[in-house]
Amino acid sequence: MTLDKARQLDAADPLREMRDRFVLPEGIIYLDGNSLGALPKVTSAHLREIVERQWGADLITSWNRHGWIDWPERIAGKLSPLLGAKPNELLIADSTTVCLFKLLSAAVAGRPGRSTILTQRGNFPTDLYAAEGLIRLHPNLVLKTVGADELPEALGGDVAVLFLTHVDYRSGMRHDMAALNAAAHSVGALTLWDLSHSTGAVELDLNGSGCDLAVGCGYKYLNGGPGAPAFLYVAERLQASLDSPISGWMGHANPFDFGPSFVPADDIRRFLTGTPSILSLAALECGLDTFSGVSCEWIERKAEGLTSFFVEAVETLCGDEVVLASPRDPGLRGSHVVFAHAQGYAVMQALIARGIIGDFRPPNLMRFGFAPLYNSYEDAWLAAEAISQIIHDHSWDRPQFLGRKRVT
Ligand SMILES: Cc1ncc(COP(=O)(O)O)c(C=O)c1O
Repeated sequence: MTLDKARQLDAADPLREMRDRFVLPEGIIYLDGNSLGALPKVTSAHLREIVERQWGADLITSWNRHGWIDWPERIAGKLSPLLGAKPNELLIADSTTVCLFKLLSAAVAGRPGRSTILTQRGNFPTDLYAAEGLIRLHPNLVLKTVGADELPEALGGDVAVLFLTHVDYRSGMRHDMAALNAAAHSVGALTLWDLSHSTGAVELDLNGSGCDLAVGCGYKYLNGGPGAPAFLYVAERLQASLDSPISGWMGHANPFDFGPSFVPADDIRRFLTGTPSILSLAALECGLDTFSGVSCEWIERKAEGLTSFFVEAVETLCGDEVVLASPRDPGLRGSHVVFAHAQGYAVMQALIARGIIGDFRPPNLMRFGFAPLYNSYEDAWLAAEAISQIIHDHSWDRPQFLGRKRVT
């Protein structure tokens, strides 16, 4: 484990040239692409073009002239190879939370007579809150949360939907999607996956693994920009039988007929609600284009390679000062890893002050995300060295690193 070894691995990396697709500031090692992806080089000019030529010069004619009206489906189609899903099963819309709410509600309504929404204890808060919100509207529903290893036995005939985050936002633990889909289907339940920490980071095969429904963030590994819209997936076989609870004109079969009551589109568009956010879609398209020509198998292998190299480097350099709080087996995790340290928050602040950007999750977890397209083995090595130095010389123990900021 040395810097030389890291450089050898970088030289052999089939994705090494992808880094050039991004603006990566000099002197910064960015290990937070699992929270906010880096800026693609083409985004600024593309946005300027959309703003000045399409919005500025072509004004409202752009809905037809530049096909704005179809962007939620057209741009979502670019996710098809990353997700292993058909283009007509995908949409870009809303935020992840809103998409979750819509699909959770659709799933429950699609399984009448069943009242349980089953999920994992410690699921991402917004997923839990969305389910709680749905239950406030339908007090007959129950949210059941169990540990990851108790999920199969908790699946009974009362479960309408099993909804899970595929790669855990904290530990990075990855569920066996195919096995859980099969288990849920064997009791007649639907599945809804939050793919926020999976898409663009690990290999996915939604069709092959029998997924019913899924959502995910556009601003993490997909590089769509801060607050980018989310995506949603509804298996083709379910589209005619499920309905969005937020029926808006963009989900109507013929929005420009301006009819008096709602008739859902007969395809994935029934899950649209209101006017698409064109500038955000334009930025997200640039993010998705950073994956062009990249195979999911390479992404998966690079995620495994980088995270494994980093774990070994940190453990070699830091010894038992830190504890790995992610699965050790790379097949069981995504593309981020967390290490626990009693002063994890302060250590992370000290790292950020040195230009190595990760983030912190309570109670004591330092989280490091490795974006397969732009992170290098050298990044992983230099970050591990810095963690070790900060821990060994106690340079985290300064007032400016101890006070909690609003966003951690
Ligand atoms: C698993 C997961 N789901 C959802 C979200 C965020 O949802 P939204 O895009 O609605 O803010 C995050 C944000 O980090 C997340 O980690």
